[in-house]
Amino acid sequence: MTERITDQAMKVLLSREQISRRVSELGLEIAKDYRGRTPHLVGILKGAWVFMADLIRQIDIDVTVDFLGITSYGAGVQSSGEVKITKDLDVSIEGRDVLIVEDILDTGHTFKFLQEVLSVHQPRSLRLVALLDKASRRVVPVRADYVGFEIPDVFVVGYGLDFNQQYRQLPDVCVLRSRSSV
Ligand code: PRP
Repeated sequence: MTERITDQAMKVLLSREQISRRVSELGLEIAKDYRGRTPHLVGILKGAWVFMADLIRQIDIDVTVDFLGITSYGAGVQSSGEVKITKDLDVSIEGRDVLIVEDILDTGHTFKFLQEVLSVHQPRSLRLVALLDKASRRVVPVRADYVGFEIPDVFVVGYGLDFNQQYRQLPDVCVLRSRSSV
């Protein structure tokens, strides 16, 4: 049976204030690096949309946006590397400076898949910004160009991240624990 919110306890790992400060810094850095160009931000659904909404408002150069919907096969908490596209891009990325926006970089399977799939369409450049990086869990040797926070190997929810599609609305990034383990 699906666990419900009442079966869980939360501990704040990254507060909304910490996130807000770091997102502002990332926006400044991205604007500086892409000055004179118009980066095309591609948010990976569903987890990235909260982060992306905040991030674009901290980038003071022109940007365009699109979204790519993907899902991992299977219902486990660890991605298998088998990824399926559920919503394709709306516009061509050929010749564009594409910046993939992710909520979390974990094993790296998803980013490797995205690199392979998007490179075929010949973007001018292809980079990744990830709010969270669980570097200790990397299976595929990929890295993000911009990282908000490196975090330990704990299950996090909130600020777009889910557990069984719940908790995406939480303003803080929280560690989820079963009540039995509190
Ligand atoms: C998360 C996240 C990345 C992926 C990273 O998506 O948004 O796309 O996992 O994991 P990896 O580096 O191990 O491949 P998730 O499957 O939780 O879907 P969601 O974004 O719809 O919540």
